[in-house]
Amino acid sequence: MLIAGLTGLEYRGYDSAGIATIFEDAFQVRKASGRLCNLEEELHKHPVSGHVGIGHTRWATHGKPSVVNCHPHCDHSGRVAVVHNGIIENYLELKEMLMRQGIVFRTETDTEVVAQLLGYYDQGDMLATLQKVLPMLQGSFALGILSLREPEKIFAVRLGCPLIVGSADGASYLGSDVSALLEYTRDMFILEDLEIAVLQEKGIAFYHPDGTPLEKKSLHISWSASAAQKDGFDHFMLKEIYEQPQVLLSTLKHYVEEETFTFRWDTLPFTKEQALNLERITIVACGTAYHAGMMGKAMIERLARIKVEADIASEYRYSETMSGEGETLIAVSQSGETADTIAALRKAKERGHRVIALTNVIGSSVARESDAVMYTLAGPEIAVASTKAYSTQVLLFAVLAVALAQLRGQITAQESADYLRELFSIPGKVDAILDCRPQVEAFARQQISCKDIFFIGRQMDYYTSLEAALKLKEISYLHSEAYAAGELKHGTIALIDDSTLVVAIATQEKIIEKTMSNVQEVVARGATILLVTSHPELDGAGIAERWLVPQGRDLFLPMLTMVYMQLFAYYMALQKGCDIDKPRNLAKSVTVE
Ligand code: F6R
Repeated sequence: MLIAGLTGLEYRGYDSAGIATIFEDAFQVRKASGRLCNLEEELHKHPVSGHVGIGHTRWATHGKPSVVNCHPHCDHSGRVAVVHNGIIENYLELKEMLMRQGIVFRTETDTEVVAQLLGYYDQGDMLATLQKVLPMLQGSFALGILSLREPEKIFAVRLGCPLIVGSADGASYLGSDVSALLEYTRDMFILEDLEIAVLQEKGIAFYHPDGTPLEKKSLHISWSASAAQKDGFDHFMLKEIYEQPQVLLSTLKHYVEEETFTFRWDTLPFTKEQALNLERITIVACGTAYHAGMMGKAMIERLARIKVEADIASEYRYSETMSGEGETLIAVSQSGETADTIAALRKAKERGHRVIALTNVIGSSVARESDAVMYTLAGPEIAVASTKAYSTQVLLFAVLAVALAQLRGQITAQESADYLRELFSIPGKVDAILDCRPQVEAFARQQISCKDIFFIGRQMDYYTSLEAALKLKEISYLHSEAYAAGELKHGTIALIDDSTLVVAIATQEKIIEKTMSNVQEVVARGATILLVTSHPELDGAGIAERWLVPQGRDLFLPMLTMVYMQLFAYYMALQKGCDIDKPRNLAKSVTVE
């Protein structure tokens, strides 16, 4: 069961794994570095018993990936075992304090400090011990704790990192996200910061940080367990790319009436009054979600005529940016647990801004801490590289842009309906692009020896380029860069030669000729050109390959273009033999700063 749970969380990225069970008044601990199959092998050689246990996949922060450093960690006396996500920032100070008391440390990790502290103070009542120890910890944590003095219990507590518990059929479970528990229960409890859960066979008791009992409401998760299976695809990433038509449609139908092309206003986070009073929107996010935010900026500014900034969450959280009245912050996050995005939204709240979450995970931290939420209905995204979450985020920005434009009187109800009708045509167009998969695969095969790839485009095509380059980097480890096409000649064109592949994206009518001039500049330097365009008339000299994007309004074409780019990254990674769903060094959910 522990291994199955860890398998459900494997997609989050890790470099070692371990478990501990309690059997006959002792811990049975097994660990292995590398993939979970190594731990399974270890368990075949040295099986464990018990009906109370904890498991962990570690992504190294303090101390290298190794068997010694991987969790669970036990205290000096061997009576407490701990698994931990997050970072204990004051661990050195605490470690020195404990060493002065004669405690001997075995690892380089910050987590061992938690195990040692709990062991040092515990007199047989872990709930009381937690009340003493938790205030000593600075940083972030989600902890699963076993104590030999209370062998029928598992203690769980968190600060800043997600932790979910649930019980069903005479058993209780904890996990760092819903995927690990889906097989057992859909009714889950999401722990808030410093709330303590005590899990037992008969159920779960909750406590406030001061130890007084707490009543908690469960949350029903409608995702099916099979949504987290590959369904015959070789990789989750490919499966998720193929799910896009369906998840785009279900997301759209949640916000818009298909029969009338009108909004379901109660699902949108703005009233007419709020929309009219909006002076500025800031969008914050990380990585792919940030790229979706850039699309959001373009669409909202163009349709609703509101000033929008898109900022990287890790920058925004420390910025001294000028902010004013009437400002709304939109935090975009697939997982809803990205530490920097959470910090950015907290900063915005301190500044008195209204905060709207755009997230995929019901009950996630970003959702819970925001004033209003728009969910992408993408279902669980398992591959580390985000695809369907990105498309649904961009779609939601399109929905929001049209809604705000209508509320602010920038477009009529009829124009709004025309935009929405067009949005309903997107899933079918995505399907048409997916049918071009053999062409994408064949071209990727020809590029096997390619070392540098540049993605160029202007405005929204540039934003697509940023996301295309990120996708390629993270799963194929190929060097790639995105450039605003007009900026290339200000330095970077020096890198272009006959060994470079340049992917030119040209969908935005107004600036298409400009991008094509930039294409000619790189052709002249011998680069191989892949042109991705919605304009069939663009072809000719120097263009090695052309992929056609179905026609439509410029504003919505990036949703289509990106599907080609996702497939391209996938096939480049495939032929390089990369671990596509779990790329090196990456974690799906970045819950530490
Ligand atoms: C890239 C990718 C990451 C995430 C980023 C934010 O494919 O998935 O760049 O987009 O780590 O994650 P969320 O959206 O969960 O906040």
